[in-house]
Amino acid sequence: MIIKYNVQLQPYNSFRTKASAKILCEPQSAEELSEIIRTFPDERKLVLGNGFNLFFTKDFEGLVIKPAMRGIHILTETDRCVEIEVGAAEDWDQFVAYCVENSYAGIENLSLIPGSVGASPVQNIGAYGTEVMEVITKVKAVELQTGNHKELSSEECGFGYRDSIFKRSGLHVITSVVFTLEKSFQYKERYIDLSRELEGISSPTLAQVRNAIIRIRNRKLPDYKILPNAGSFFKNPVLTQQEKDQLQLKLPDAPVYNVGEGQFKTSAAFLIDKAGYKGKRRGMVGTSTHHSLIIVNYGTENGREIVAFMHEIQQEVRKQFGIMLEPEVRIY
Ligand code: EPU
Repeated sequence: MIIKYNVQLQPYNSFRTKASAKILCEPQSAEELSEIIRTFPDERKLVLGNGFNLFFTKDFEGLVIKPAMRGIHILTETDRCVEIEVGAAEDWDQFVAYCVENSYAGIENLSLIPGSVGASPVQNIGAYGTEVMEVITKVKAVELQTGNHKELSSEECGFGYRDSIFKRSGLHVITSVVFTLEKSFQYKERYIDLSRELEGISSPTLAQVRNAIIRIRNRKLPDYKILPNAGSFFKNPVLTQQEKDQLQLKLPDAPVYNVGEGQFKTSAAFLIDKAGYKGKRRGMVGTSTHHSLIIVNYGTENGREIVAFMHEIQQEVRKQFGIMLEPEVRIY
């Protein structure tokens, strides 16, 4: 197993902020992972996927664990569906491409989301009307405190909008994820932007849906290799009926979606835009000129500059519209 000391974390986060880790390991199996956890019982621990949804503001005086378990294995197959176990370190979009090539339906809407398979349940990745929780049947993990192996059913994962037990408790390292995917596909309209992109195609195939999503994302989302970023910076806020009514008095054209149980989701991008922050820049940090929900790094190595800009946006949106935006990205 690879164990390194005093490691610079800049290449390990897509925002490219600088920080060092006392120890970093890359276990290639659940057994290696248990062993390393038991070797360093007293070190603080931090689990890193491919680093597309977090950045650092300070050094980490402990053990950083970067799971390196690979492999895509079919567990069971019937006429209707297939159950596949995928190692945590596999690249998410390569797995989506594999599924589309083999006509396994269910995650095509999640094409081109950067990151690892192991990170996908942590924040229950979602896009274009699909969330990964819909196709996850099991998550295999190792407990950070004991090194014991554990299997969690989908219910035990406690999934919510960009949320799960893994994000809330931080007590597990995911080693593999089990997905159940359908072997037939019928396109359903769930997201207006996607249906618009597919206009003129009467019955889109999986590959056509994937390609449409890749086109939309490439148009809207900045490339982290050119302008370092971590995708959507804030969550879309969920409002009560009263908060929604207050918002619509101030912003009658605010997009609002009923998400059930008397709750409504609005668009963080729209609020940031209306607060005057689309394409705004402060020193080496700013929001993308194409999409106001994405904070981009124009050249700082200091994560605290990103945090300062985040606070500025939060305060301005709260002052103008009475809504507190919550970061979706993790900050260490
Ligand atoms: N909008 C603006 N200004 C902008 C951009 C968007 O006002 O600069 C408004 C428009 O009204 C637009 C609405 O925001 O219709 C929604 O925009 P979009 O469809 O791009 O979706 P989003 O809410 O900004 C969410 C996810 C994305 C996901 C897209 C597509 C969250 C936090 N973000 O973004 O996920 O790709 O939907 O489904 O839920 C990510 O999590 O990193 C991510 C990129």
